Amino acid sequence: MNILILGGGGREHALAWAVKQNPKCDRLIVAPGNAGIAGIAECADFDILDGAAVVEFCGENAIDFVIVGPEAPLAAGVADATRDAGILTFGPSAKAARLEASKGFTKEICDACAAPTAAYARFDTAEAARAYVQAQGAPLVIKADGLAAGKGVIMGMTLEEALAGVETVFGGAFGSAGAEVVIEEFMEGEEASFFILTDGTNALPIGTAQDHKRVGDGDTGPNTGGMGAYSPAPVLTQAIQDQAMAEIVLPTIAEMARRGMPYQGVLYAGLMIKDGRARLVEYNCRFGDPECQVLMMRLGAQALDLMLACAEGRLSEARVNWAEDHALTVVMASLGYPETYVKGTQIRGLEGLPETSREMVFHAGTKAAEGRILAVGGRVLNVTARGESLAEARDRAYALVDAIDWPEGFCRRDIGWRAL
Ligand code: AMP
Ligand code: GLY
Repeated sequence: MNILILGGGGREHALAWAVKQNPKCDRLIVAPGNAGIAGIAECADFDILDGAAVVEFCGENAIDFVIVGPEAPLAAGVADATRDAGILTFGPSAKAARLEASKGFTKEICDACAAPTAAYARFDTAEAARAYVQAQGAPLVIKADGLAAGKGVIMGMTLEEALAGVETVFGGAFGSAGAEVVIEEFMEGEEASFFILTDGTNALPIGTAQDHKRVGDGDTGPNTGGMGAYSPAPVLTQAIQDQAMAEIVLPTIAEMARRGMPYQGVLYAGLMIKDGRARLVEYNCRFGDPECQVLMMRLGAQALDLMLACAEGRLSEARVNWAEDHALTVVMASLGYPETYVKGTQIRGLEGLPETSREMVFHAGTKAAEGRILAVGGRVLNVTARGESLAEARDRAYALVDAIDWPEGFCRRDIGWRAL
């Protein structure tokens, strides 16, 4: 079959890498792709937020299956457009993608199905929000309702910070995403990510992971899109996964179906674990980036079969064959990230590196120019390895990192510390 993957980050490189290994895959096109993806697939450039353009491209290229990587095309209804055109698609409708695109909507769904999550209140004026903050006291978490590229969450650990957060969001820092604000109870505990495939009715857990959101070693400095990840996440024990499925994931899927907006695709549940129980922090309607890189490394070619089963509504037949091992990915970013960073610097030393089922350098913000690989984004490379133990996976990943010659790049040196 001919497959189109939408997106151009490390997540999409990992998806393409796994899909490509499956004999069902004939032609593989990624839009827009990046310099690493160009080594294993065709790259195409068109507006992936425009459903009509995606449908037209699929027609011209006899695409049989579309996999949507990032949240923006999902929220823009691209999966609706391709499905309406009769093209098999992996990814939720725009209505279902509101589980990520509106934090207020997610809270409403949690209420309706009694899923454990932080207590909250919703506001559309700064005045009412301020009064609530004064009445509740710190700590509180202030969130812009809409999509804000992962930046719309402000921790109000003190009353001053919480009040300042209200001003920031209503002051327009996140544009229309901040027209409504959700204020939440601050949850303590350890965070982990849980990934579930669903065809709208059936659900299949496909793995756990832990991300590293802060830019610096020891979880210091500002938040980023994620500086590294590993899978599995030991904090998500089988018992906690079972509780999360029973109390959070399955009730959510049933509630979405009941509302006539069945959720099809991957559901990424961000969980807070404390005292042996999980509560929902947030949903995302896509694979995590860089969590996808470690999941794909562990799933390999079967990832395509699982995504097809999901899109075709036959997930009840699907099983995951787990290699009992660990995968870890280290993000290399441009100096300065997540603030202003240098662009266009050259990365050397990638040529001779192993590209196997156990070691892969996935590309995120890279571009090829005259035979050179240039860094053009904040997060640039995802250096990924598997091992029998997490420590082995980590050592192999850092050995690869050390073979890369990129003075204008940096990474965290402590990925995996919580589990190690
Ligand atoms: P979100 O975009 O909702 O995932 O929020 C980003 C990050 O903020 C999460 O990954 C958590 O680390 C943190 N966070 C969000 N909501 C809460 C909460 N209610 N209590 C504690 N931490 C939170
Ligand atoms: N790594 C966090 C995310 O993809 O949202």
